[in-house]
Amino acid sequence: MSSLVGEVAGSAVEGREGKGVRDGFTTGLGVIAATLGSAVGLGNIWKFPFMTGVNGGAAFIIIYLLSTLLVGLPVMISETMLGRKARADAITTLRKVAPKQLWWLIGASGVLAAFLILAFYTEVAAWVFAYIFKAAFGEILSTNPEVTSAAFGSLISNPVQSLLWQWGVLVVISAIIIAGVSKGIENTTKRLMPVLFLILVMLCIRSLTLPGAAQGLAFLFTPDFSKVTGATVLTAMGLSFFKLSVGMGTMITYGSYFRDDQDIPATTTKVMLADLLVSMLAGIAIFPAVFAFGFEPGAGPSLLFITIPAVFASMPFGNIFMVLFFILAAIAATGAMLSLLEVPVAFLTEKKNYSRVKATLLTSGLLALIGSTAALSNSTLSGVTLFGMTFFDLYDYLTSNILLPVGGLFISIFVGWVWGYKEVKQALSNEGVLNNEKIIQLFFGIVKVVTPILVAVVLLNGLGVLEELLWLLHPSL
Ligand code: TRP
Repeated sequence: MSSLVGEVAGSAVEGREGKGVRDGFTTGLGVIAATLGSAVGLGNIWKFPFMTGVNGGAAFIIIYLLSTLLVGLPVMISETMLGRKARADAITTLRKVAPKQLWWLIGASGVLAAFLILAFYTEVAAWVFAYIFKAAFGEILSTNPEVTSAAFGSLISNPVQSLLWQWGVLVVISAIIIAGVSKGIENTTKRLMPVLFLILVMLCIRSLTLPGAAQGLAFLFTPDFSKVTGATVLTAMGLSFFKLSVGMGTMITYGSYFRDDQDIPATTTKVMLADLLVSMLAGIAIFPAVFAFGFEPGAGPSLLFITIPAVFASMPFGNIFMVLFFILAAIAATGAMLSLLEVPVAFLTEKKNYSRVKATLLTSGLLALIGSTAALSNSTLSGVTLFGMTFFDLYDYLTSNILLPVGGLFISIFVGWVWGYKEVKQALSNEGVLNNEKIIQLFFGIVKVVTPILVAVVLLNGLGVLEELLWLLHPSL
């Protein structure tokens, strides 16, 4: 990776006319740190390992890799490429590459999605931050899942605590965003990513050296193709969107901060592989320990906030490892939230000419409002449901199942059918500097035909349409 450590400076790029120098990532390593910081998030810790375990282990990893190569990565390359080409926020980028057409609506849906994802994501992050302290003070140190479950219940059903921790998270990420793209996002992720890897490796060693660890490894990695169904493939595809932060303008915005000499296909592929590595290490840190102490593997909040504390409480020096684990999750969540918050902030500063401070405060203020409906979903507002879901679940469902796939679908259609090969080749070869035509051809073929078809399938499935269609064709299913 040493060749990536480019020279500092020289990457700030001219922004919109008359606006002087635009902030951006300054080094090749900074680009990787920020982009990986966005990809690595809570998804690696509570979604990926469990989904792998229950969907056939190594068989699922192979399918996830295929989905990533055919769907997630092509959309990631497309978004990054468009953002760098236009050097603008998500909405302005699409206005620039497709003047006088309606494609800017993809950017607009992205800004909306950023709000909705952040609304629930900041609450999960709030629990993670709270747990660093609870772990440090020994409040959740019990080997009995009933006790840890009650502790979690009392946190999420307390409206004041839920709101205050969420606002605390908003203050932390806002402060980093206000510091700027290079001084805030790049600097922070460059420092935090190595810490994340270090903690992850320490937790893996701890987990693997426990007696009985092999069973957890078997749960994660034994390939079982009999567990692979149509639904597995759809899960893998949806996960590849969420994991790589695509479908809502995050990578358009980050792409607009990429250096001119950055090899986009190579960089995004490296980030994708590093993200996969983090997911697998997270699985290795978690499941051998879970099995070693005879706990049931679970998913989502119950795995993270109920099982994991009980698992750590069961091992020697468990309190120290528990604190480390929640610091790890907090770091992962922070990089992801920065990339989400940057989407509306970039729009407000560039399009509306707000100062960065004003744009960030306005966005966080609005988020504190919308987010409170998610934060209170387990307490004050637990009885309020829309389409049978609490606000928390609704935001998750709307974004993961509708907004992200719709965004990805239109991005791939735009790049493959409207923008066209000539522009793509110019952009991805860095105006002819890179000698990567074969890779560009491969990418273009996939993004034009394969990606849109596969995403359309994910989308129809997310809406439940596919199930009805299949039922119409085969009522016996
Ligand atoms: N990729 C992050 C995770 O795995 C979440 C995330 C950050 C995200 N930015 C995003 C998801 C943009 C969708 C869109 O947790």
